[in-house]
Amino acid sequence: MTVALVTGGGGGIGRATAVALAAAGADVAILDLDAGLGDETAALVETAGRRALFLRTDVSDGAQMGEAVDQVERLLGPITAFANNAGIEGVVAPLHLYPDDVFDRLLQVNAKGVFLGLKHVLARMIPRGEGAIVNTASTSAVRGRAGLAGYVATKHAVLGLTRVAALDVAGTAIRVNAVLPGPVETRMIRSLDEQAGRSGGIRRAGAAAYGQPEDVAGVICFLLSDQARHVNGAAWTVDAGSTVA
Ligand code: NAI
Repeated sequence: MTVALVTGGGGGIGRATAVALAAAGADVAILDLDAGLGDETAALVETAGRRALFLRTDVSDGAQMGEAVDQVERLLGPITAFANNAGIEGVVAPLHLYPDDVFDRLLQVNAKGVFLGLKHVLARMIPRGEGAIVNTASTSAVRGRAGLAGYVATKHAVLGLTRVAALDVAGTAIRVNAVLPGPVETRMIRSLDEQAGRSGGIRRAGAAAYGQPEDVAGVICFLLSDQARHVNGAAWTVDAGSTVA
């Protein structure tokens, strides 16, 4: 694992993943829409003694993603590990009131963004015959959640894309897996909780069940490492067992 790419690397899970990958010895490129957060993560990677590169990039824009992947490989070297992680939550609203424009943006970022990341990184990895990718889905990829039409639909899409990509690379030394986190303490969950508090739309098990970004980052790092060399196409829940029942 020498050069890693993390999308949404300015946010909670992405930042923890970038820092964990640096601690494991990778140089890390960070893509995010938020330049302030991205720069902060880059500084943390450098503090860990590794090279960092932040590029302000919208993952839902094919031209920007192609250019960013190009630049990362030019400046840091071949990408061997990719955390395809950026995502947004949208709003909490019953489906019959769910705004069309919010649904469209969720499809653009959470579904098309993950597709574009896979497309541009796999185009580099496939000729080299090696590399590992982890898509950040959610437990919302395998269950319904009241009030979250856009989020749940797009996280199901992330799991579908993971399975297609895993089959496309089957028989090579490339692997594509997904993590399915339950609620994790980040800006995103605070936004959803605040909205749910207002609308009464979502009920959660309680703050004690929330994970920390590092809990997810550790699993992403494992799945990106050679220790997981026989794991391909997996949907790996990171939720303290909340979806088992
Ligand atoms: P976050 O909001 O802290 O981080 C998301 C990051 O993605 C932010 O830095 C944001 O600027 C960036 N981003 C958003 N749209 C972007 C775009 N178009 N292009 C580039 N960057 C963009 O949220 P968190 O929780 O760290 O989320 C990371 C991933 O984990 C997301 O895919 C989310 O759906 C997933 N997830 C989060 C859970 C949680 O409870 N926090 C649970 C399950 C999954």
